[in-house]
Amino acid sequence: KKVVLAYSGGLDTSIILKWLQTEYRCEVVTFTADLGQGEELEPARAKAEMLGIKPENIYIEDVREEFVRDFVNPMFRANALYEGQYLLGTSIARPLISKRLVEIAEETGADAIAHGATGKGNDQVRFELAAYALNPDIRVIAPWREWDLTSRTKLLEFAEANQIPIAKNKRGEAPFSVDANLLHTSSEGRVLEDPAQEAPDYVLQRITRPEDAPDTPEMIEVTFEKGDAVAIDGEAMSPATILTRLNELGAKHGIGILDLVENRFVGMKSRGIYETPGGTILLEAHRGIEQITLDSGAGHLKDSLMPRYAELIYNGFWFSPEREMLQAAIDASQTLVSGTVRLKLYKGSVRSVARWSENSLYSEAHVTFEEDAGAYDQTDAQGFIRLNALRLKLLAARARRLKG
Ligand code: ARG
Ligand code: SIN
Repeated sequence: KKVVLAYSGGLDTSIILKWLQTEYRCEVVTFTADLGQGEELEPARAKAEMLGIKPENIYIEDVREEFVRDFVNPMFRANALYEGQYLLGTSIARPLISKRLVEIAEETGADAIAHGATGKGNDQVRFELAAYALNPDIRVIAPWREWDLTSRTKLLEFAEANQIPIAKNKRGEAPFSVDANLLHTSSEGRVLEDPAQEAPDYVLQRITRPEDAPDTPEMIEVTFEKGDAVAIDGEAMSPATILTRLNELGAKHGIGILDLVENRFVGMKSRGIYETPGGTILLEAHRGIEQITLDSGAGHLKDSLMPRYAELIYNGFWFSPEREMLQAAIDASQTLVSGTVRLKLYKGSVRSVARWSENSLYSEAHVTFEEDAGAYDQTDAQGFIRLNALRLKLLAARARRLKG
């Protein structure tokens, strides 16, 4: 038997690796992805080798460009926010990891995949729904739902008994649980569990506190083509390079910190601290370019679909017909969403201050407060208002009659 494990190289997934070898007696293939989490990958290779994984069974890949091009960018075309605020940084990375796990299983003749998500969260759902959507016969092993290593003490005993190195700071309970990639860093649990308590500053991993950000604003220009960011300050860059650069700018200026209590798909509420520096700038910029290039009918329809689209991603239905249908509609709306937005970054805020496009629908001739040289006939508005008011007047007349 063979299983492909999503392996970070950290303590928990190393324990899972050993547990699969000893309890399941199966050959383990490891998959470690560079999603822009900012960690070296070579230590994960060394650690996997040390735990007895054959070199040909160690997969280490830089998937940053694929992540932004095929997952993050399509999602940002929708301006997706879960429950009004969460930019879905963890949610959007899971289907990519699952896709590679399933592909590697097929390449290596493995019949199962394994992940390190707990039985209480969203991530297990996302990993597994994506995997089954891509391969109906795949088996999924979720050690956290199966094993009896139910306390930190038992985990550490298992690690010690199996010669898994434990970093000094991992002996005590980790202060909170972190998931990071190019789009965001999320922190949940432990010291963050009581939503009535403010999160301590040390939770922040990548964004400068707005209080400590520079006192002078910085201006940048983001250029879009068909709804995707393609250049910063006129310089064309690859998708992952753009997000990396926006992350640096956002982090420096304290942009993109969110403290949120959200509803997990499995039913409970959970509190998280999210740091999404580049994504927060990107959302504002994308909205800025849509303001001048999107028709109101298309824009309002797309906005009405957004919460459903975001919920599908949050709940793990990236690979589903309904997400693909919505994506097709959203993508169709973006064909003329091209142009440039200038943004002001300052102490935790990002604001569009100018935007221009060859495809602009903005007509100064129509909107001007000055004489408009016949572009618009104000008397047209009279009939427009009269007909729109008709039913409101009938309703008001009825209310008056019933009252008495
Ligand atoms: N609550 C967020 C989500 O469901 C973040 C989950 C973080 N995952 C983790 N393994 N720490 O998308
Ligand atoms: C986990 O439970 O593994 C992390 C949190 C989540 O999946 O929602």
